[in-house]
Amino acid sequence: TEQTFIMIKPDGVQRGLIGEVIGRFEKKGFYLKAMKLVNVEKSFAEKHYADLSSKPFFGGLVEYIVSGPVVAMVWEGKQVVATGRKIVGATNPLAAEPGTIRGDFAVDIGRNVIHGSDSVENARKEIALWFPEGIAEWRSSQHPWIYEA
Ligand code: GTP
Ligand code: MG
Repeated sequence: TEQTFIMIKPDGVQRGLIGEVIGRFEKKGFYLKAMKLVNVEKSFAEKHYADLSSKPFFGGLVEYIVSGPVVAMVWEGKQVVATGRKIVGATNPLAAEPGTIRGDFAVDIGRNVIHGSDSVENARKEIALWFPEGIAEWRSSQHPWIYEA
């Protein structure tokens, strides 16, 4: 079964949205497999967003990510990568649909509250980068009430 990397960015933490974000993924029927609150080093933020290093906004993006603690999480479930992106919403919060996290809680693209892996392959890389210590192995007893056999 699939896993994705979700990070509540510093603005989401400062604005008290940790519970809101976790609640949405939990209530959907996904399982929290790892979580930590961390102050990210500049070099680590640059590694996480390495694919964007040539973009004009890269410097500002890295500054944003290191501006306060973030909450790093691994979520598991059926098609959680693509569905997680839907829960997160479009990159530009003004274009994000109401009902998505960015659509409901953000305005500016550089303050868009949350990160979600954009592919199964990138999810695997990001989980390895953020959780080299490994992740928990468990499944809710509600599993058969959420997933067909
Ligand atoms: P993440 O889940 O954070 O990876 O966002 P995303 O996958 O929706 O977008 P992308 O990976 O292309 O960009 C990563 C982050 O860089 C975005 O979430 C924004 O915070 C920021 N970003 C992307 N495009 C722009 C832009 O045009 N201007 C600014 N200021 N920031 C941008
Ligand atoms: Mg991205």
